[in-house]
Amino acid sequence: MHLIDVTDAAALAERAADLVAAQIERRPASLLALPTGRTPLALYETLMRRARAGRLSLGRVRLVNLDEYRGLAPEDPHSYAAFIRRHLIDPLALDPAQTRLWRGDACDADAELRALEATIRAWGGIDLAILGLGRNGHVAFNEPGTPREARAHLAALSDSTRAAARAADGWEAPAEGFTLGLANLLEARRLLLLVAGEGKEEARRALYRGIEDPRWPVTRLLGHPDLTVIELGARGDRP
Ligand code: GLP
Repeated sequence: MHLIDVTDAAALAERAADLVAAQIERRPASLLALPTGRTPLALYETLMRRARAGRLSLGRVRLVNLDEYRGLAPEDPHSYAAFIRRHLIDPLALDPAQTRLWRGDACDADAELRALEATIRAWGGIDLAILGLGRNGHVAFNEPGTPREARAHLAALSDSTRAAARAADGWEAPAEGFTLGLANLLEARRLLLLVAGEGKEEARRALYRGIEDPRWPVTRLLGHPDLTVIELGARGDRP
């Protein structure tokens, strides 16, 4: 694990954008898996700024999103698909053919799970998965207890995850979500975990214990050979 400490959100965004830029330089048609949440917002703004200034070319990049609430159409403003479109795809005018976002309202959930994995395979696998961290240690919607072998699946969302959505914008989140599984994440060539936000001290401590623990899904990432963690405001919670 490569650990980068930052002291403000702008620095987190810059360091993360540097890693994304390096990935795109290596492979312009990279497949990126993207998170939602407050943590990656400044990163998306930074990527946009660099692209507009001609410092970064995202023209060939391909995108999937990590997770989605079950039952929400991509047009629903609460959907993660709408979030990614709002913050990245639309402002950059990326070709929709280069993106495959979860369809939360898919009638046949199994078919949707298979289809998203098939797209990832067809695009040569995920080059860089960017991840946020949930208070209970979830990554994407891989909730505590999710086995390391889990592939894309429908997850029952924990009270903690739904409470975080409620606290963020007073909205009652659905009980289930589509998500890439831990196995999909571990298959990505590189992982970038962004750690910021209140109430995540226990999850941070679990990660820095350096031992895989099924109660803390984020610790499963420790099994990946190319994991970078950018952490904002570390407060001595490392052993
Ligand atoms: C949600 C998402 C996760 C995200 C997490 C953290 O539960 N499903 O993918 O990482 O929230 O969000 P934030 O960055 O707002 O703390």
